[in-house]
Amino acid sequence: MSLEKLIELAGGLDNIQRILAPKGQVTVAVIDAKRVTQPDAVCAESVLGEWQLSMARDASISDEDLAKVGLAIAARQRQQASQYLQPTACPYRPQWHISPPQGLLNDPNGFVYHQGEYHLFYQWYPFACEHKDKYWVHLKSADLVHWAWQSIALTPSDWFDSHGVFSGHAVSDGDDLWLFYTGNTRLGHDRDRQTMQCAAHLSANGAFEKMGPVIRTLPPGVTEHIRDPKVVFKQGRWHMLLGAQTQDLQGRLAVYHSEDLHEWQFDKLYGDELAPYGYMWECPDWFEIDGEQFVVFGPQGITSDNPHHTIVHQNRIFRVEQDEQGGFHFLQGWELDAGFDFYAPQSLQTADGRRVMCGWMGLPDEIDHPSCDNGWIHQFTALRELRWQKGQIIQQPTAELDALRGETQPLALSAQPITLGSKSFELQVTLPWGSELHLMHDEQHRVVLALDAQQRVLRFDRSATEIRQGDTIRELALTSDKVKLHILADNSSLEIFINDGEKVMTGRIFTPPNATQISLYHTEAQANFTPLNTMSWSFAPR
Ligand code: FRU
Repeated sequence: MSLEKLIELAGGLDNIQRILAPKGQVTVAVIDAKRVTQPDAVCAESVLGEWQLSMARDASISDEDLAKVGLAIAARQRQQASQYLQPTACPYRPQWHISPPQGLLNDPNGFVYHQGEYHLFYQWYPFACEHKDKYWVHLKSADLVHWAWQSIALTPSDWFDSHGVFSGHAVSDGDDLWLFYTGNTRLGHDRDRQTMQCAAHLSANGAFEKMGPVIRTLPPGVTEHIRDPKVVFKQGRWHMLLGAQTQDLQGRLAVYHSEDLHEWQFDKLYGDELAPYGYMWECPDWFEIDGEQFVVFGPQGITSDNPHHTIVHQNRIFRVEQDEQGGFHFLQGWELDAGFDFYAPQSLQTADGRRVMCGWMGLPDEIDHPSCDNGWIHQFTALRELRWQKGQIIQQPTAELDALRGETQPLALSAQPITLGSKSFELQVTLPWGSELHLMHDEQHRVVLALDAQQRVLRFDRSATEIRQGDTIRELALTSDKVKLHILADNSSLEIFINDGEKVMTGRIFTPPNATQISLYHTEAQANFTPLNTMSWSFAPR
Protein backbone atom coordinates (compact mmCIF):
# COMPACT_ATOMS: atom_id res chain seq x y z
CA MET A 1 0.00 0.00 0.00
CA SER A 2 1.18 3.52 -0.71
CA LEU A 3 1.62 6.20 1.93
CA GLU A 4 -1.01 8.29 0.11
CA LYS A 5 -3.51 5.45 0.52
CA LEU A 6 -2.77 5.14 4.25
CA ILE A 7 -3.30 8.91 4.65
CA GLU A 8 -6.56 8.66 2.73
CA LEU A 9 -7.82 5.79 4.91
CA ALA A 10 -6.79 7.79 7.99
CA GLY A 11 -9.21 10.54 6.93
CA GLY A 12 -6.68 12.85 5.29
CA LEU A 13 -3.51 14.66 6.30
CA ASP A 14 -5.37 16.98 8.66
CA ASN A 15 -6.61 13.98 10.66
CA ILE A 16 -3.12 12.71 11.45
CA GLN A 17 -1.88 13.39 14.93
CA ARG A 18 1.45 11.62 14.70
CA ILE A 19 3.51 9.50 12.40
CA LEU A 20 5.74 6.64 13.53
CA ALA A 21 8.04 4.32 11.65
CA PRO A 22 8.69 1.22 13.75
CA LYS A 23 10.97 -1.27 12.01
CA GLY A 24 9.49 -2.24 8.62
CA GLN A 25 6.25 -0.34 9.24
CA VAL A 26 4.58 3.01 8.95
CA THR A 27 2.02 3.93 11.59
CA VAL A 28 -0.20 6.97 11.81
CA ALA A 29 -2.24 7.98 14.85
CA VAL A 30 -5.48 9.74 13.98
CA ILE A 31 -7.24 12.65 15.66
CA ASP A 32 -10.83 11.64 14.92
CA ALA A 33 -11.43 7.88 14.65
CA LYS A 34 -14.79 8.48 12.95
CA ARG A 35 -12.98 9.83 9.89
CA VAL A 36 -11.10 6.54 9.33
CA THR A 37 -12.44 4.69 6.30
CA GLN A 38 -12.08 0.93 5.56
CA PRO A 39 -10.27 0.10 8.81
CA ASP A 40 -10.20 -3.57 7.64
CA ALA A 41 -7.76 -2.65 4.86
CA VAL A 42 -5.05 -1.79 7.39
CA CYS A 43 -4.03 -2.90 10.82
CA ALA A 44 -6.08 -0.58 13.04
CA GLU A 45 -5.87 -0.66 16.82
CA SER A 46 -6.20 1.51 19.85
CA VAL A 47 -2.78 2.00 21.42
CA LEU A 48 -3.03 3.58 24.86
CA GLY A 49 -6.07 5.59 23.83
CA GLU A 50 -4.66 6.58 20.42
CA TRP A 51 -6.26 5.09 17.30
CA GLN A 52 -3.33 3.92 15.16
CA LEU A 53 -3.30 2.58 11.59
CA SER A 54 -0.25 0.63 10.45
CA MET A 55 1.01 -0.87 7.23
CA ALA A 56 4.19 -2.50 6.00
CA ARG A 57 6.73 0.05 4.78
CA ASP A 58 7.76 -0.85 1.26
CA ALA A 59 10.97 0.40 -0.27
CA SER A 60 9.19 3.12 -2.25
CA ILE A 61 8.41 5.09 0.93
CA SER A 62 11.33 7.38 1.61
CA ASP A 63 12.18 9.42 4.70
CA GLU A 64 11.30 12.49 2.59
CA ASP A 65 7.77 11.13 2.10
CA LEU A 66 7.41 10.70 5.85
CA ALA A 67 8.83 14.21 6.38
CA LYS A 68 5.97 15.70 4.32
CA VAL A 69 3.49 14.24 6.79
CA GLY A 70 5.69 15.62 9.59
CA LEU A 71 5.48 19.13 8.12
CA ALA A 72 1.67 19.01 8.16
CA ILE A 73 1.68 17.78 11.76
CA ALA A 74 4.17 20.51 12.71
CA ALA A 75 1.97 23.24 11.23
CA ARG A 76 -0.96 22.05 13.35
CA GLN A 77 1.19 21.71 16.48
CA ARG A 78 2.51 25.27 16.10
CA GLN A 79 -1.02 26.55 15.67
CA GLN A 80 -2.20 24.70 18.79
CA ALA A 81 0.80 25.74 20.88
CA SER A 82 0.36 29.38 19.83
CA GLN A 83 -2.76 29.41 22.04
CA TYR A 84 -0.42 28.93 25.02
CA LEU A 85 1.85 31.90 24.47
CA GLN A 86 -0.02 34.41 26.61
CA PRO A 87 1.84 34.61 29.91
CA THR A 88 -0.51 34.04 32.80
CA ALA A 89 -0.49 36.55 35.65
CA CYS A 90 1.14 34.97 38.65
CA PRO A 91 2.76 36.43 41.77
CA TYR A 92 5.43 33.72 41.61
CA ARG A 93 6.49 34.60 38.08
CA PRO A 94 10.12 35.75 38.07
CA GLN A 95 10.79 39.33 37.04
CA TRP A 96 14.07 38.69 35.31
CA HIS A 97 14.58 34.93 35.01
CA ILE A 98 13.28 33.09 31.98
CA SER A 99 10.01 31.27 32.62
CA PRO A 100 7.45 29.75 30.22
CA PRO A 101 4.31 31.75 29.42
CA GLN A 102 2.28 28.61 30.19
CA GLY A 103 3.05 24.93 30.58
CA LEU A 104 6.28 23.29 31.68
CA LEU A 105 9.82 24.44 30.94
CA ASN A 106 12.75 22.14 31.59
CA ASP A 107 16.30 22.01 30.23
CA PRO A 108 18.11 24.88 28.54
CA ASN A 109 19.00 23.81 25.00
CA GLY A 110 21.13 25.10 22.13
CA PHE A 111 22.88 27.81 24.18
CA VAL A 112 25.32 29.33 21.72
CA TYR A 113 26.89 32.53 20.41
CA HIS A 114 26.42 32.76 16.65
CA GLN A 115 27.26 35.69 14.41
CA GLY A 116 26.97 38.40 17.04
CA GLU A 117 23.89 37.03 18.82
CA TYR A 118 23.22 34.73 21.73
CA HIS A 119 20.71 31.93 21.19
CA LEU A 120 18.97 29.99 23.92
CA PHE A 121 16.17 27.46 23.66
CA TYR A 122 14.06 25.70 26.24
CA GLN A 123 12.39 22.35 26.52
CA TRP A 124 8.67 23.09 26.61
CA TYR A 125 5.44 21.22 27.04
CA PRO A 126 2.91 23.94 26.22
CA PHE A 127 -0.37 22.38 27.26
CA ALA A 128 0.00 21.54 30.97
CA CYS A 129 2.47 21.38 33.84
CA GLU A 130 3.47 17.89 32.75
CA HIS A 131 6.41 16.13 31.13
CA LYS A 132 4.92 15.07 27.81
CA ASP A 133 6.05 15.43 24.19
CA LYS A 134 8.57 18.28 24.30
CA TYR A 135 8.96 21.30 21.99
CA TRP A 136 11.92 23.70 21.65
CA VAL A 137 11.26 27.43 22.11
CA HIS A 138 13.83 29.85 20.71
CA LEU A 139 15.00 33.05 22.45
CA LYS A 140 17.66 35.48 21.28
CA SER A 141 19.70 38.17 22.99
CA ALA A 142 22.37 40.69 22.10
CA ASP A 143 23.54 41.17 25.69
CA LEU A 144 22.79 37.96 27.66
CA VAL A 145 20.22 39.87 29.74
CA HIS A 146 17.36 40.95 27.48
CA TRP A 147 15.94 37.89 25.79
CA ALA A 148 13.48 38.20 22.95
CA TRP A 149 11.08 35.43 22.03
CA GLN A 150 11.71 34.15 18.51
CA SER A 151 9.60 31.13 17.70
CA ILE A 152 8.55 27.66 18.58
CA ALA A 153 11.65 26.29 16.89
CA LEU A 154 10.94 22.55 16.84
CA THR A 155 7.82 20.51 17.49
CA PRO A 156 7.45 16.73 18.05
CA SER A 157 6.03 16.23 14.58
CA ASP A 158 8.14 13.56 12.89
CA TRP A 159 8.51 9.81 12.88
CA PHE A 160 11.86 10.17 14.68
CA ASP A 161 10.75 12.62 17.42
CA SER A 162 7.01 12.06 17.78
CA HIS A 163 7.20 11.82 21.58
CA GLY A 164 9.54 14.69 22.24
CA VAL A 165 12.20 16.85 20.63
CA PHE A 166 14.48 16.15 23.55
CA SER A 167 17.49 18.13 24.71
CA GLY A 168 20.62 18.99 22.80
CA HIS A 169 23.11 21.69 21.94
CA ALA A 170 23.77 24.05 19.04
CA VAL A 171 26.85 24.38 16.86
CA SER A 172 27.90 27.63 15.23
CA ASP A 173 29.98 26.72 12.18
CA GLY A 174 30.72 29.76 10.03
CA ASP A 175 27.41 30.91 8.59
CA ASP A 176 25.64 27.77 9.74
CA LEU A 177 23.74 27.28 12.95
CA TRP A 178 23.03 23.62 13.62
CA LEU A 179 20.91 22.11 16.35
CA PHE A 180 21.60 18.58 17.55
CA TYR A 181 18.93 16.94 19.65
CA THR A 182 17.51 13.60 20.67
CA GLY A 183 14.40 12.39 18.89
CA ASN A 184 12.29 10.47 21.37
CA THR A 185 9.58 8.07 20.22
CA ARG A 186 7.39 5.57 22.04
CA LEU A 187 6.18 2.52 20.19
CA GLY A 188 3.30 0.13 20.79
CA HIS A 189 1.33 -0.86 23.85
CA ASP A 190 4.43 -1.02 26.05
CA ARG A 191 5.54 2.47 25.00
CA ASP A 192 8.91 1.03 23.96
CA ARG A 193 11.36 3.90 23.81
CA GLN A 194 13.21 4.50 20.54
CA THR A 195 15.98 7.05 20.54
CA MET A 196 17.76 8.71 17.63
CA GLN A 197 20.17 11.63 17.50
CA CYS A 198 18.90 14.25 15.08
CA ALA A 199 19.92 17.55 13.51
CA ALA A 200 18.20 20.74 12.38
CA HIS A 201 19.56 23.75 10.53
CA LEU A 202 18.69 27.44 10.74
CA SER A 203 17.39 28.56 7.36
CA ALA A 204 17.59 32.03 5.89
CA ASN A 205 13.96 32.75 6.86
CA GLY A 206 14.74 32.18 10.56
CA ALA A 207 12.96 28.80 10.75
CA PHE A 208 14.70 25.60 11.77
CA GLU A 209 14.62 22.89 9.16
CA LYS A 210 14.85 19.35 10.48
CA MET A 211 17.51 17.22 8.78
CA GLY A 212 16.33 13.99 10.40
CA PRO A 213 18.35 11.43 12.32
CA VAL A 214 22.14 11.46 12.05
CA ILE A 215 22.51 8.46 14.40
CA ARG A 216 19.74 5.90 14.04
CA THR A 217 20.99 2.89 15.95
CA LEU A 218 22.33 2.32 19.42
CA PRO A 219 26.02 1.76 20.06
CA PRO A 220 26.85 -1.65 21.55
CA GLY A 221 25.99 -2.26 25.18
CA VAL A 222 23.60 0.60 25.89
CA THR A 223 19.84 0.89 26.41
CA GLU A 224 17.53 3.33 24.63
CA HIS A 225 18.47 5.83 27.36
CA ILE A 226 21.10 7.63 25.31
CA ARG A 227 20.47 11.31 24.71
CA ASP A 228 21.24 15.04 24.89
CA PRO A 229 24.03 15.52 22.30
CA LYS A 230 26.83 18.02 22.87
CA VAL A 231 28.89 18.62 19.73
CA VAL A 232 32.37 20.17 19.84
CA PHE A 233 35.12 20.62 17.22
CA LYS A 234 38.46 19.54 18.64
CA GLN A 235 41.62 17.76 17.54
CA GLY A 236 40.62 18.38 13.91
CA ARG A 237 37.18 16.75 14.01
CA TRP A 238 33.71 16.89 15.50
CA HIS A 239 32.91 15.01 18.68
CA MET A 240 29.46 14.21 20.02
CA LEU A 241 29.02 13.50 23.71
CA LEU A 242 25.85 11.75 24.86
CA GLY A 243 24.51 10.80 28.25
CA ALA A 244 24.01 7.04 28.28
CA GLN A 245 23.00 4.00 30.26
CA THR A 246 24.67 0.61 29.87
CA GLN A 247 22.66 -2.61 29.67
CA ASP A 248 23.63 -3.31 33.26
CA LEU A 249 22.10 0.06 34.19
CA GLN A 250 25.19 2.16 34.76
CA GLY A 251 25.48 5.78 33.68
CA ARG A 252 28.22 6.50 31.11
CA LEU A 253 29.37 9.06 28.60
CA ALA A 254 29.02 7.86 24.99
CA VAL A 255 31.30 9.55 22.45
CA TYR A 256 31.05 9.65 18.64
CA HIS A 257 33.14 11.53 16.09
CA SER A 258 32.50 12.98 12.64
CA GLU A 259 34.38 14.76 9.88
CA ASP A 260 31.35 16.59 8.50
CA LEU A 261 28.57 16.69 11.18
CA HIS A 262 26.50 14.23 9.09
CA GLU A 263 28.24 10.84 9.31
CA TRP A 264 29.02 9.78 12.86
CA GLN A 265 31.23 6.92 14.11
CA PHE A 266 30.92 5.54 17.61
CA ASP A 267 34.15 5.69 19.64
CA LYS A 268 33.56 4.40 23.14
CA LEU A 269 31.75 4.63 26.44
CA TYR A 270 33.65 6.56 29.12
CA GLY A 271 33.41 6.82 32.89
CA ASP A 272 34.37 3.31 34.09
CA GLU A 273 36.76 4.84 36.59
CA LEU A 274 33.85 6.52 38.42
CA ALA A 275 31.62 3.44 38.59
CA PRO A 276 29.25 2.89 40.22
CA TYR A 277 27.99 6.42 39.61
CA GLY A 278 24.24 6.29 39.08
CA TYR A 279 22.01 4.49 36.58
CA MET A 280 21.99 7.20 33.90
CA TRP A 281 23.93 10.32 33.01
CA GLU A 282 21.91 13.08 31.37
CA CYS A 283 22.78 16.28 29.52
CA PRO A 284 26.58 16.29 29.07
CA ASP A 285 28.43 19.51 28.43
CA TRP A 286 32.14 19.75 27.63
CA PHE A 287 34.34 22.84 27.60
CA GLU A 288 37.72 24.29 28.39
CA ILE A 289 38.57 26.98 30.93
CA ASP A 290 42.14 28.27 31.13
CA GLY A 291 43.50 25.24 29.32
CA GLU A 292 41.71 22.72 31.57
CA GLN A 293 38.97 20.45 30.23
CA PHE A 294 35.68 19.99 32.05
CA VAL A 295 32.73 17.66 31.53
CA VAL A 296 29.38 18.44 33.17
CA PHE A 297 26.52 15.96 33.43
CA GLY A 298 23.50 14.99 35.51
CA PRO A 299 24.10 11.64 37.17
CA GLN A 300 20.83 10.00 38.21
CA GLY A 301 20.66 7.50 41.02
CA ILE A 302 23.40 8.86 43.26
CA THR A 303 22.52 9.02 46.91
CA SER A 304 23.74 11.55 49.44
CA ASP A 305 25.12 10.91 52.93
CA ASN A 306 22.97 13.77 54.21
CA PRO A 307 19.56 12.47 55.36
CA HIS A 308 17.85 15.70 54.18
CA HIS A 309 19.05 15.10 50.64
CA THR A 310 16.73 12.52 49.06
CA ILE A 311 16.85 13.59 45.40
CA VAL A 312 18.57 11.24 42.95
CA HIS A 313 18.90 13.79 40.13
CA GLN A 314 22.18 15.54 40.75
CA ASN A 315 24.61 17.87 39.02
CA ARG A 316 28.34 17.34 38.63
CA ILE A 317 31.34 18.91 36.98
CA PHE A 318 34.50 16.86 36.40
CA ARG A 319 37.94 17.97 35.39
CA VAL A 320 38.93 15.57 32.64
CA GLU A 321 42.00 14.82 30.58
CA GLN A 322 41.96 13.77 26.96
CA ASP A 323 44.57 11.36 25.69
CA GLU A 324 46.09 11.50 22.21
CA GLN A 325 43.38 9.20 20.86
CA GLY A 326 40.74 11.63 22.17
CA GLY A 327 39.79 9.34 25.10
CA PHE A 328 38.31 10.90 28.25
CA HIS A 329 39.74 10.36 31.72
CA PHE A 330 37.77 11.67 34.68
CA LEU A 331 40.10 13.24 37.24
CA GLN A 332 38.23 15.14 39.92
CA GLY A 333 34.58 16.07 40.38
CA TRP A 334 32.44 18.55 42.27
CA GLU A 335 28.83 19.45 42.76
CA LEU A 336 28.11 22.55 40.69
CA ASP A 337 25.25 23.67 42.92
CA ALA A 338 24.54 22.45 46.44
CA GLY A 339 20.97 23.81 46.60
CA PHE A 340 17.65 22.23 45.67
CA ASP A 341 17.06 23.16 42.05
CA PHE A 342 19.85 23.01 39.53
CA TYR A 343 19.86 20.53 36.69
CA ALA A 344 20.79 20.00 33.03
CA PRO A 345 22.97 23.13 32.66
CA GLN A 346 24.47 24.24 29.35
CA SER A 347 27.27 26.69 28.77
CA LEU A 348 28.67 28.83 25.99
CA GLN A 349 31.73 30.90 25.33
CA THR A 350 30.89 34.59 25.16
CA ALA A 351 32.19 36.90 22.46
CA ASP A 352 34.94 38.00 24.88
CA GLY A 353 35.93 34.45 25.85
CA ARG A 354 34.10 33.88 29.18
CA ARG A 355 32.43 30.56 30.03
CA VAL A 356 28.80 31.29 30.94
CA MET A 357 26.32 28.70 32.18
CA CYS A 358 22.55 28.54 32.41
CA GLY A 359 20.75 25.80 34.34
CA TRP A 360 17.23 24.52 34.69
CA MET A 361 15.93 25.73 38.05
CA GLY A 362 13.86 22.62 38.56
CA LEU A 363 14.11 18.86 38.82
CA PRO A 364 12.78 15.98 36.73
CA ASP A 365 10.16 14.56 39.09
CA GLU A 366 8.59 17.79 40.32
CA ILE A 367 5.42 18.86 38.56
CA ASP A 368 3.41 20.43 41.36
CA HIS A 369 4.31 23.83 42.74
CA PRO A 370 2.14 26.87 43.55
CA SER A 371 2.78 28.39 40.09
CA CYS A 372 0.89 25.42 38.57
CA ASP A 373 -2.29 27.03 39.91
CA ASN A 374 -1.57 29.71 37.32
CA GLY A 375 -0.68 27.29 34.55
CA TRP A 376 3.12 27.25 34.43
CA ILE A 377 6.07 25.62 36.17
CA HIS A 378 9.87 25.95 36.31
CA GLN A 379 12.36 28.56 35.16
CA PHE A 380 15.99 29.00 34.21
CA THR A 381 18.70 30.04 36.64
CA ALA A 382 20.55 33.32 36.34
CA LEU A 383 23.53 33.12 34.02
CA ARG A 384 26.75 32.43 35.86
CA GLU A 385 30.33 32.81 34.78
CA LEU A 386 32.61 29.87 35.55
CA ARG A 387 36.28 30.37 36.26
CA TRP A 388 39.08 28.01 37.27
CA GLN A 389 41.07 29.45 40.17
CA LYS A 390 43.64 27.68 42.32
CA GLY A 391 42.22 24.25 41.59
CA GLN A 392 38.62 25.30 42.18
CA ILE A 393 35.62 26.09 40.02
CA ILE A 394 34.41 29.58 40.88
CA GLN A 395 30.92 30.67 39.85
CA GLN A 396 29.67 34.26 39.87
CA PRO A 397 26.62 36.01 38.40
CA THR A 398 27.62 37.35 34.98
CA ALA A 399 28.71 40.98 34.74
CA GLU A 400 25.77 41.63 32.38
CA LEU A 401 23.39 41.43 35.36
CA ASP A 402 24.48 45.00 36.03
CA ALA A 403 21.94 46.14 33.43
CA LEU A 404 19.15 45.18 35.86
CA ARG A 405 20.58 46.77 38.98
CA GLY A 406 18.92 49.75 40.61
CA GLU A 407 20.63 51.88 43.22
CA THR A 408 22.47 50.02 45.97
CA GLN A 409 21.47 50.97 49.50
CA PRO A 410 22.95 49.97 52.85
CA LEU A 411 20.60 47.84 54.93
CA ALA A 412 21.09 47.41 58.68
CA LEU A 413 19.98 43.84 59.37
CA SER A 414 18.77 42.81 62.82
CA ALA A 415 15.98 40.81 64.48
CA GLN A 416 13.67 43.72 63.73
CA PRO A 417 12.05 42.71 60.41
CA ILE A 418 12.48 45.09 57.47
CA THR A 419 9.76 45.05 54.83
CA LEU A 420 11.50 45.25 51.47
CA GLY A 421 8.30 45.47 49.43
CA SER A 422 9.91 43.40 46.67
CA LYS A 423 11.28 39.95 46.18
CA SER A 424 13.47 40.82 43.25
CA PHE A 425 16.80 42.01 44.53
CA GLU A 426 20.46 41.36 45.17
CA LEU A 427 21.80 41.24 48.71
CA GLN A 428 25.44 41.09 49.77
CA VAL A 429 26.33 40.42 53.38
CA THR A 430 29.07 38.73 55.42
CA LEU A 431 27.85 36.79 58.45
CA PRO A 432 29.52 35.16 61.45
CA TRP A 433 28.82 31.57 62.44
CA GLY A 434 25.72 31.31 64.62
CA SER A 435 23.70 33.86 62.66
CA GLU A 436 20.39 33.17 61.00
CA LEU A 437 19.08 35.13 58.05
CA HIS A 438 15.31 35.00 57.40
CA LEU A 439 14.18 36.01 53.94
CA MET A 440 10.96 36.36 51.94
CA HIS A 441 9.06 36.14 55.20
CA ASP A 442 5.86 37.12 56.95
CA GLU A 443 4.54 35.77 60.26
CA GLN A 444 3.94 32.22 58.96
CA HIS A 445 6.35 31.79 56.06
CA ARG A 446 10.08 32.15 55.80
CA VAL A 447 13.29 30.86 54.27
CA VAL A 448 16.06 30.43 56.77
CA LEU A 449 19.77 30.55 56.01
CA ALA A 450 21.37 29.36 59.22
CA LEU A 451 25.11 29.27 59.86
CA ASP A 452 25.20 26.37 62.30
CA ALA A 453 28.30 26.96 64.45
CA GLN A 454 28.35 23.43 65.88
CA GLN A 455 28.06 21.52 62.63
CA ARG A 456 29.84 24.15 60.52
CA VAL A 457 27.20 23.93 57.84
CA LEU A 458 25.21 26.55 56.03
CA ARG A 459 21.63 25.26 56.32
CA PHE A 460 19.22 26.39 53.59
CA ASP A 461 15.77 25.66 55.02
CA ARG A 462 12.61 26.18 52.99
CA SER A 463 10.33 24.03 55.15
CA ALA A 464 8.24 27.04 56.26
CA THR A 465 7.27 27.95 52.67
CA GLU A 466 4.52 26.87 50.27
CA ILE A 467 6.78 24.40 48.43
CA ARG A 468 4.77 21.31 47.42
CA GLN A 469 7.38 18.81 46.27
CA GLY A 470 11.06 18.17 46.82
CA ASP A 471 13.42 18.37 49.75
CA THR A 472 13.19 21.28 52.19
CA ILE A 473 16.66 21.31 53.75
CA ARG A 474 20.12 21.46 52.24
CA GLU A 475 23.30 21.60 54.28
CA LEU A 476 26.64 22.72 52.95
CA ALA A 477 29.87 22.25 54.93
CA LEU A 478 32.08 25.35 54.99
CA THR A 479 35.43 26.04 56.61
CA SER A 480 35.77 29.83 56.33
CA ASP A 481 35.87 32.03 59.49
CA LYS A 482 32.92 34.07 58.30
CA VAL A 483 30.58 33.41 55.41
CA LYS A 484 30.14 35.86 52.60
CA LEU A 485 26.75 35.67 50.88
CA HIS A 486 25.82 37.14 47.52
CA ILE A 487 22.11 36.45 47.06
CA LEU A 488 19.99 36.87 43.95
CA ALA A 489 16.25 36.86 44.65
CA ASP A 490 13.46 36.87 42.10
CA ASN A 491 9.91 36.37 43.40
CA SER A 492 10.09 32.59 43.67
CA SER A 493 13.78 31.83 43.79
CA LEU A 494 17.02 32.41 45.66
CA GLU A 495 20.47 31.85 44.20
CA ILE A 496 23.13 32.08 46.87
CA PHE A 497 26.73 32.57 45.80
CA ILE A 498 28.94 31.76 48.79
CA ASN A 499 32.45 33.01 49.61
CA ASP A 500 33.05 34.76 46.30
CA GLY A 501 31.54 31.99 44.25
CA GLU A 502 33.35 28.99 45.78
CA LYS A 503 29.93 27.40 46.28
CA VAL A 504 26.41 28.05 45.04
CA MET A 505 23.00 27.03 46.39
CA THR A 506 19.89 27.51 44.28
CA GLY A 507 16.29 26.99 45.34
CA ARG A 508 12.74 27.78 44.35
CA ILE A 509 11.01 29.61 47.17
CA PHE A 510 7.28 30.08 47.30
CA THR A 511 5.96 32.42 49.98
CA PRO A 512 2.91 34.73 49.70
CA PRO A 513 3.45 37.81 47.51
CA ASN A 514 3.52 40.21 50.45
CA ALA A 515 5.98 38.09 52.47
CA THR A 516 8.85 40.46 51.68
CA GLN A 517 10.46 40.81 55.09
CA ILE A 518 14.07 40.20 55.95
CA SER A 519 15.56 39.80 59.43
CA LEU A 520 18.76 38.58 61.00
CA TYR A 521 18.96 36.73 64.32
CA HIS A 522 21.78 36.24 66.84
CA THR A 523 23.86 39.01 65.31
CA GLU A 524 23.53 42.29 63.44
CA ALA A 525 25.12 43.14 60.11
CA GLN A 526 25.34 45.77 57.48
CA ALA A 527 24.21 44.50 54.07
CA ASN A 528 24.15 45.98 50.60
CA PHE A 529 20.72 45.81 49.03
CA THR A 530 20.19 46.40 45.30
CA PRO A 531 16.77 46.20 43.64
CA LEU A 532 16.76 44.25 40.39
CA ASN A 533 14.54 45.56 37.61
CA THR A 534 12.26 43.58 35.39
CA MET A 535 13.98 42.22 32.34
CA SER A 536 12.27 43.61 29.28
CA TRP A 537 11.89 40.38 27.42
CA SER A 538 8.85 39.11 25.69
CA PHE A 539 7.34 35.69 26.25
CA ALA A 540 5.52 35.69 22.95
CA PRO A 541 5.80 37.18 19.46
CA ARG A 542 5.12 40.91 19.39
C1 FRU B 1 16.74 16.19 31.53
C2 FRU B 1 15.97 15.43 30.47
C3 FRU B 1 16.87 15.10 29.29
C4 FRU B 1 15.88 14.96 28.18
C5 FRU B 1 14.90 16.04 28.50
C6 FRU B 1 13.47 15.77 28.08
O1 FRU B 1 15.92 16.96 32.32
O2 FRU B 1 15.41 14.27 31.00
O3 FRU B 1 17.69 13.98 29.48
O4 FRU B 1 16.45 15.13 26.92
O5 FRU B 1 14.95 16.22 29.91
O6 FRU B 1 12.67 16.88 28.31
